[in-house]
Amino acid sequence: MFTAITIVLWILSPWLLVEGGISFEEFHRENLPLLSLTNSSENNLLLPFNTTRTPGSEESLKVQNFIKRFYRGMEGPWQLEEDSFEANGRRFKNLVFTLGEASHYVTIAAHYDSKVAPEGFVGASDSAASCAILLYVSRFLDRLYDEDAALLEPRLRGAGIGFKIVFFDGEEALQQWRADDSLYGSRRLAGQWARSGTLDHIELLVLLDLLGSEPQPIPSYFRETHWYYERLASLEAAYTHQELQLDAQDHRFLQANGVTIEDDHVPFYEAGVAVLHLVPWPFPSVWHTLEDDYDHLQQGQVDKWAVLLSEFLIDCAARR
Ligand SMILES: *[C@@H]1O[C@H](CO)[C@@H](O)[C@H](O)[C@H]1NC(C)=O
Ligand SMILES: *[C@@H]1O[C@H](CO)[C@@H](O)[C@H](O)[C@H]1NC(C)=O
Ligand SMILES: [Zn+2]
Repeated sequence: MFTAITIVLWILSPWLLVEGGISFEEFHRENLPLLSLTNSSENNLLLPFNTTRTPGSEESLKVQNFIKRFYRGMEGPWQLEEDSFEANGRRFKNLVFTLGEASHYVTIAAHYDSKVAPEGFVGASDSAASCAILLYVSRFLDRLYDEDAALLEPRLRGAGIGFKIVFFDGEEALQQWRADDSLYGSRRLAGQWARSGTLDHIELLVLLDLLGSEPQPIPSYFRETHWYYERLASLEAAYTHQELQLDAQDHRFLQANGVTIEDDHVPFYEAGVAVLHLVPWPFPSVWHTLEDDYDHLQQGQVDKWAVLLSEFLIDCAARR
């Protein structure tokens, strides 16, 4: 499966494989064990999220510290911004990690909080697995940077493309989903980025949610980004021929071309940012139940999205 994707990438972005010292295949073979559901090595990136993560809780703080420690241990010049704020009597914290000083950024995001009710809800697909995937993708970018800074550096500067990795707090409603009881972190960050002008430099926001459990179809939701969707669909087809989740021919949602699923992309979409929303429809059957636990994650699903999104981001950089 890795061979196929390496070949596709070689066709798409020959500069990487010809000049870069790193083999994609080798990278994924060495690093996918870090997302293992069974091997709890101390470097495991997936298991630390196997806990409740309600905003402001001790568990949430532990997870935040784990994420920050991870980025501090990286080689590349990652910049950390953390933003702590209060709303509805709770404390929230967004975490944003930036690689590069470019005029354009591809941003990839997920929420790390978990739902308050039912008590003990872990949200393995909502969105623990997506958070681990963000760490994996970051490591992939970091390793490329480290192995061949001369190659990646120019692309991360000036008119090139940088990366922002965002961990939102407070996606879930504390009580009942309403405009003012949900999306705490994303509403906050979109407002800050509107004021600072950062929004104008976001080329694409990729939002991950409900990934990692049973494979359900993931439709293309927005016409503006269907082109990106097609790129990702072709990577998926190269990666596996089983249970494809993306279907570039399925235009059902593109006709409506608006928000049908409320999630962290909404404040950004409404501000004019191009959004690729990777969320399955229908939702996984375990959605918002205690069953959305690690027993319902599928190793193949977690691995697949980690590989595809790593390759997708570097493809975005190569095309610029
Ligand atoms: C467990 O994961 C570590 C770190 O990724 C790896 O070095 C080790 O070989 C793995 N062990 C097994 C039994 O898979
Ligand atoms: C996740 O946590 C639960 C509760 O602590 C535990 O029973 C389960 O074994 C953990 N799953 C994995 C894959 O570590
Ligand atoms: Zn949810």
